[in-house]
Amino acid sequence: MIFSAADDGALALDLLPDWRALLGERADRLELEIGSGHGGFALGFARAQPDRALVAIEQRRKFADELRDRAAQRGHANLVVITGDGRLLAPRLFRAGSLAAVHVHFPDPWWKRRHHRRRLVDDGMSQLLFGLLAPGGLCDFRTDVERYALEAVERLEAIGFENEAGPGGFSDRPEGEIPSTREKRYLATGHPVWRLRLRKPAAGAPAPRHTGAP
Ligand SMILES: C[S@@+](CC[C@H](N)C(=O)[O-])C[C@H]1O[C@@H](n2cnc3c(N)ncnc32)[C@H](O)[C@@H]1O
Repeated sequence: MIFSAADDGALALDLLPDWRALLGERADRLELEIGSGHGGFALGFARAQPDRALVAIEQRRKFADELRDRAAQRGHANLVVITGDGRLLAPRLFRAGSLAAVHVHFPDPWWKRRHHRRRLVDDGMSQLLFGLLAPGGLCDFRTDVERYALEAVERLEAIGFENEAGPGGFSDRPEGEIPSTREKRYLATGHPVWRLRLRKPAAGAPAPRHTGAP
């Protein structure tokens, strides 16, 4: 259980929940989505991958509640929706090296320089995602903002991710890729999308490439 009620009725949050007890064998290939928004990817994943499980973290309560309701209506027992800040929750919910994939799709760009520190894929988050992924695990990052994409590929490769498209490259849309809510719109309009598919090296991380920062 993620939440449990004590004898006095108080709710307790279990850190590092026993995902196998909650999700059975599906927990052996657990995937995480941060910033699920209206849930197009999460619901598509739950339907297409009944033998796998996804935890979706969304900080806007309304979006998370609606997604949870829709998952329940559709009987998706392989989708867990959690309300909150993925940056704070992810290290408290998953053990290091335990995730098969992490999905971050169209994070808010925070255009102004003074707001850049609010960006989801900053140095701290990149390190966190790298640490949570199992060897060979996938970091699936999609954005419609070229500058964000260029910064992210440099940052993620620098900490040791291997790029499926080669250094500095972006991937074509893979066959059968499940689109997010926003992406469905872009697929219809042809708006460009930058896709990064990066792997945590299978046998230990290579030495990180230094970017010149002290
Ligand atoms: C631009 S929307 C994209 C939604 C969805 N991924 C899609 O592609 O349709 C970004 C979403 O990320 C959520 N978000 C931003 N920062 C977050 C964080 N630190 N933790 C969880 N959710 C976050 C926002 O509330 C918003 O719903």
